[in-house]
Amino acid sequence: MDNELTVRIESLSNLGYGIARADGVVIFTEGACPGDLARIKITKRNKSYYNAEILEVLEPSSHRVKPFCAMQKVCGACQLQFIDYDYQLELKRGIVEDAIRKIGGLDVKIHNIIPSPQTKKYRHKIQYPVAQTKVSKRFLAGYYKSGTHEIVNIKHCPIQPEICDEIIHFVREKAPEFGISAYDEKTHAGLLRHVIIRNSAAFGRNLVVLVVNSDKILPEVQRFAIALYDAFEDASGVCVNFNTKRTNVIQGEVSKCVAGDDFIEEKILDKTFIIGANTFFQINPKSAENIFRYVKDYIGENFENPDVLDAYAGITTFGICVSDVCESVVSVEENTESCSLAKKSLILNNINNVEINNTDAGEFLSREKRKFDAIILDPPRKGCSKEALDNALRLTKSKIIYVSCNPATLARDLKYLTEKGAFVESIQPFDMFCHTYHVESVAILDFSQNI
Ligand SMILES: C[S@@+](CC[C@H](N)C(=O)[O-])C[C@H]1O[C@@H](n2cnc3c(N)ncnc32)[C@H](O)[C@@H]1O
Repeated sequence: MDNELTVRIESLSNLGYGIARADGVVIFTEGACPGDLARIKITKRNKSYYNAEILEVLEPSSHRVKPFCAMQKVCGACQLQFIDYDYQLELKRGIVEDAIRKIGGLDVKIHNIIPSPQTKKYRHKIQYPVAQTKVSKRFLAGYYKSGTHEIVNIKHCPIQPEICDEIIHFVREKAPEFGISAYDEKTHAGLLRHVIIRNSAAFGRNLVVLVVNSDKILPEVQRFAIALYDAFEDASGVCVNFNTKRTNVIQGEVSKCVAGDDFIEEKILDKTFIIGANTFFQINPKSAENIFRYVKDYIGENFENPDVLDAYAGITTFGICVSDVCESVVSVEENTESCSLAKKSLILNNINNVEINNTDAGEFLSREKRKFDAIILDPPRKGCSKEALDNALRLTKSKIIYVSCNPATLARDLKYLTEKGAFVESIQPFDMFCHTYHVESVAILDFSQNI
């Protein structure tokens, strides 16, 4: 096969690449939309597939649109922004369907994806790496260019609330004035590594975290953090996180609050949640609210006063949302900060039927003896271990509600659960991460026939 060729893009891969075929080889092309006729160039020949880049779109797909962000082509954050939103949704439903069929071996109808209520300004957590130019020492902050560690200096990002741009602008301009240098990951020198902003969709408040290559608060960081807090009326607090390791992990284990509070409040359904600097919380609260409502309605409509287990609970978001329709909720989460904030949220919302367990979910499931009417599993991208799934089956009286941000591991785990006798009742995808290939799904499984 020549290095340059003309292909018709047939479909979209689970990582957002256009898929074409030539001489029986699958070719993954970045920035290609199904339907495009394109001249492409092979960039890498792997054993069973090739990677390619677009040289020219000869006949554009009817679903191509002009990206609303000028940086779309260079920034790695919104891979699908050049595709119209309705078609993005259709493609993402296809990604879930494909995984469930090919990896899970299951023939289950995948419902139409529930769109995000907002497709711009939806992202309420940002984490920008920081760098400095070699000669002028100008500060750069933004997402990495796709597949690299090269920072795209983002002055305006339309998928985030505008206040995030303003805070980042302040950091870029003022940090050098306070004598703060930017971290250089090659030399491991320099101070400021990342700026993290958590914005509350309901209250508009912002928690800013400055991740520094230091194990204590240096005077210049202290002064800068206070100046930042004073400059923004809507800053709820500024924290400093210490990370001196040569690692891609963004935050270190210890943070200190320098000004204001070390949390923000968010409202989901009728409940108020306290979110910390290093606790998991969905980045698109409005779309997440659709998921929490969906699960709450399902439990409310299918049970009377059930006992529910919320595993991989974070700040017990599911557990607290469904607590009104439950007799009891038991939550399990390994992150200590998440558990202590969950306890504060329980007090704030006057809830007293939720038990919080700060431990490993697999370990908890293996030693637990109580049975539950429904078990919510919301694991990280890698999914659940077989042991955790076995124990979830042992502990459920009927339903498992599996919430997943990774169709591939969802499909693998559903395959395992169905082989053990569970029945997949429904799979409902949600669009939480508009303009990216990421998709969230809720699968409901029934195991009552096997008890
Ligand atoms: C995808 S998040 C879901 C959080 C929560 N359900 C929500 O929607 O906000 C996964 C959570 O699982 C937690 N986690 C990861 N591995 C765990 C384990 N082995 N045991 C308990 N919790 C774990 C993470 O700390 C994180 O809070």
